[in-house]
Amino acid sequence: MGIQITPSVLNADLSRLADEVARIPSSDWVHVDVMDNHFVPNLTIGLPVFESLARATDLPLDAHLMIEDPDRWAPAYAEAGAGSVTFHAEAAKAPVRLARELRAKGARASMALKPATGIEQYADMLGELDMLLVMTVEPGFGGQKFLDLCLPKIRRARELISAAGLEVWLQVDGGVSLETIERCAEAGADVFVAGSAVFSAEHPDDMVNALRDKATAARQNA
Ligand code: DX5
Ligand code: ZN
Repeated sequence: MGIQITPSVLNADLSRLADEVARIPSSDWVHVDVMDNHFVPNLTIGLPVFESLARATDLPLDAHLMIEDPDRWAPAYAEAGAGSVTFHAEAAKAPVRLARELRAKGARASMALKPATGIEQYADMLGELDMLLVMTVEPGFGGQKFLDLCLPKIRRARELISAAGLEVWLQVDGGVSLETIERCAEAGADVFVAGSAVFSAEHPDDMVNALRDKATAARQNA
């Protein structure tokens, strides 16, 4: 699998979600940020809206659950048709069991790490995952500044994945733009979330393709 772009609809016009998603047909996925005002200090959308969006688009949905108790709530997103479900390592009580449950329900299983969460303690469970998300901002809001301090962790994650001979995708989320995407790709990321960069662009779909081109070139040079 090559470079993939998964625009976040967090900064789109949420009253017109289906129309907004129709503006980004070149996307590989649509990234949906679910926040519960407990794990992060913000509240967005939940399962009913997610289910409606799944019916309204043919693009696969990438659910990013910034919620407490994902062990309880994440499987429902797989049942609702999510192609990929990401839970946070900091919130999961039994991440291995949860990843297996997500896969059993037909979704790709993905785990996210906040900027200050290390990768080493999770090295042995990478084989349970289809994707690892390295957050490049503190989760909770779109439009924040990219944190360069996360780049060594992206590099380390890519090394661990390669050394284990795994096919785990490596996603970055937060502050990804034409200005920062090359750094992420060079460090080893291959799946890129971009919220404000895409939805504040005059032509969002052109931005999706521009981001993919830039990341593809940077990954080839890596
Ligand atoms: C932040 C969310 C992100 C956010 C990205 O907590 O997980 O997906 O929408 O937005 P930008 O690309 O604007 O940082
Ligand atoms: Zn996200």
